[in-house]
Amino acid sequence: MKRRVFVLSQAVAITLIWSCSTHKTVTYNQPSAKNNDIERRTDSVLNLMTLEEKIGQMNQYNGFWEVTGPAPKDGAAAIKYEHLKKGWVGSMLNVLGTKDVRALQKIAVEQSRLHIPIIFGYDVIHGYQTLSPIPLGESASWDLEAIQKSAAIAAEEAAAVGLNWTFAPMVDITRDARWGRVMEGAGEDTFLGSKIAYARVKGFQGENFRDAKTILACTKHFAAYGFAEAGRDYNTVDIGTSTLYNVVLPPFKATVDAGVYTFMNSFNEINGVPSTGSAFLQRDILKGNWGFKGFVVSDWGSMAEMIAHGQAKDGKQAAEIAANGGSDMDMESSVYVEHLAALVREGKVQESYIDDSARRILRTKFELGLFDDPYKYCDEAREKATVGKKEFQDGVLDMAKKSIVLLKNQNDLLPLKKSGQKIALIGALANDKSSPLGSWRGAAKDGSAVSVLEGMQKYPGNQLTFEKGVEVAIGTPVFGSETKINMTDRSEFQKAITAAENADVVVMVLGEIGFQTGEGRSRVNLDLPGLQQELLEAVYKANKNVVLVVNSGRPLILNWADQNIPAIVEAWQLGTQSGNAIAQVLYGDYNPSGKLPMSFPRNVGQLPIYYNHKSTGRPNGGGESVFWSHYGDEKNTPLYPFGYGLSYSKFEYTNLRLSTTSLSDNDRITVSVDVKNTSKIDGKEVVQMYIHDLFGSATRPVRELKGFEMTALKAGETKTVSFDIDKKLLEFYTANNRWETEPGDFTVFIGGNSDATLSANFKYVN
Ligand code: NOJ
Repeated sequence: MKRRVFVLSQAVAITLIWSCSTHKTVTYNQPSAKNNDIERRTDSVLNLMTLEEKIGQMNQYNGFWEVTGPAPKDGAAAIKYEHLKKGWVGSMLNVLGTKDVRALQKIAVEQSRLHIPIIFGYDVIHGYQTLSPIPLGESASWDLEAIQKSAAIAAEEAAAVGLNWTFAPMVDITRDARWGRVMEGAGEDTFLGSKIAYARVKGFQGENFRDAKTILACTKHFAAYGFAEAGRDYNTVDIGTSTLYNVVLPPFKATVDAGVYTFMNSFNEINGVPSTGSAFLQRDILKGNWGFKGFVVSDWGSMAEMIAHGQAKDGKQAAEIAANGGSDMDMESSVYVEHLAALVREGKVQESYIDDSARRILRTKFELGLFDDPYKYCDEAREKATVGKKEFQDGVLDMAKKSIVLLKNQNDLLPLKKSGQKIALIGALANDKSSPLGSWRGAAKDGSAVSVLEGMQKYPGNQLTFEKGVEVAIGTPVFGSETKINMTDRSEFQKAITAAENADVVVMVLGEIGFQTGEGRSRVNLDLPGLQQELLEAVYKANKNVVLVVNSGRPLILNWADQNIPAIVEAWQLGTQSGNAIAQVLYGDYNPSGKLPMSFPRNVGQLPIYYNHKSTGRPNGGGESVFWSHYGDEKNTPLYPFGYGLSYSKFEYTNLRLSTTSLSDNDRITVSVDVKNTSKIDGKEVVQMYIHDLFGSATRPVRELKGFEMTALKAGETKTVSFDIDKKLLEFYTANNRWETEPGDFTVFIGGNSDATLSANFKYVN
């Protein structure tokens, strides 16, 4: 094999030509109709690389220096800088803005021996600077098209500032609201979660990377991070095969089907093995069974954390376990760059594993088009014209409205009248322009959200007064620090009570401040934080016409409110346009249609709580006997079930029917229901289908979501909504340790939430 290197006038235009034994010449940074064959171009680079350079591709650093200042001369930053110049950095994260990205890319492309561009990643979780609702909020829309569009907006804005990789979507199924990261996912359900995961990948990645408006998505956290014991972040995960295959893995698989380019593994161990070192997950399932062609990045420092887990004795062993386990890129542990070459030479890690990882990463760079133009994402003019543009604001507003869930609306207190009313708006969160940004707020500036106060001020027909009533937090909450909650200062209570006394209607905005959820934000207490419950009760005493708007990144405990407050709206943390979205819903300019993606518990003691639980051997009881599966001091059921949400319209479900009651292999059953809007207001309803597999080789959940459809119904209109059921829809990971559909009896339910009662029975026979 012969290698020749030509250096042209501009370093970027350096052309490396590799002549392979078949006498074909391949230039890896010269696209043309002839050589845009990505596999061959990837091989052509790989064949030029030293072992250290290949390992360099597997190394990712956090932005380590102010690019506008002098180059680092000492310490860790200086070492990283040298690595960058040597081509020992495959990717960087947290470098923002075309200017900085360009400067760093220039070093990689012009100063490293092989001029290989790097990938720039960032946590674009629900937007870059223009924020959509937190992912849990978006999921409440059940609107896959809107969710895909929201991801596309995030991608376009991020791509305009030099980024080409987001660490999203998080597809961890979670049943425990104590876990602060529930805000980042799609909630408790595998079917809904899989559809949303698919949509988000399509939104971020688009059809291709040609126009620099799309970026790589990264499915995380592989796997089972959402099952951290007791909802405590980073805690141990221990789940059985059935839960792993039937509940946890399908959303991950859905993103592979959507063509996701990257995966991130997780901090947790699962059944005794840290995911970062799990060959079972990464090699057997992901790259083996699912045929995933992209690469896996570790979570932040998770390779080195295998030492604390008690699996690796030092960084070198951590690198060995991670590489053999199938982790392709090391995020910020530096164990690959330090130890992997030695491990290969000692025969502890096969070189073919290094080749495979480097190939996956390089191939992705070709797919992005970085070899053709490493500065493709670094157009300053585009950056200026794109960030925060009007079209994005409209898009995230639309998404925010669709995410709102109406939990209660006694006597149609909502929507509010638009004129002639005295409205008291109460709660510190009503005037908070940062909390609606939630956690993982990307590069959004503090105070950049529209507050509820600002939103409501756009309706001038009423007389609006505002009182904060009580502060939620003490001081300014910060991303990485514990939030101090106000438990003592009631000095503003009286003003709020007086405002309530003088009002026709009170709107109270209560809940969590933006940084009370997210990574490292587990809580055991899920009541309204601080003194807010006390304020709510005091205000209610003064005026019973209270509309409670809840801002939260997770389900909260709302029992008292549910029993007393006539109208309750779950408004999550809705992003940049939050206040406008809430005001439009409160005033009826938008008719809410959101449905809960997580059950709202009555008590923290019920957690984990989820609708698709198993029956148990003792599901029924009552009276004096205690010998059945229950709590002595609380119901088993949640306060608001999964899938629940009201509208200003009213919907009636009738006439559930099946096309046939017996399903065979190549057949299908059509199940239909009539849905009528019995109100005088046009609206939308998410019609949901659940199926119960009555008996199985392994026990089956009491019901599982298997279909849903957003249906628009004019006032008085009736529509028939139908779903098809086939063998595939009924399959599960059985006691035989494979996916199959077992013959037997099934019940199908259709309705507006997971408590749907209209039902019919059918059989699957083969
Ligand atoms: C740790 C988080 O677990 C992960 O989700 C995130 O992408 C990385 N940090 C990078 O910020």
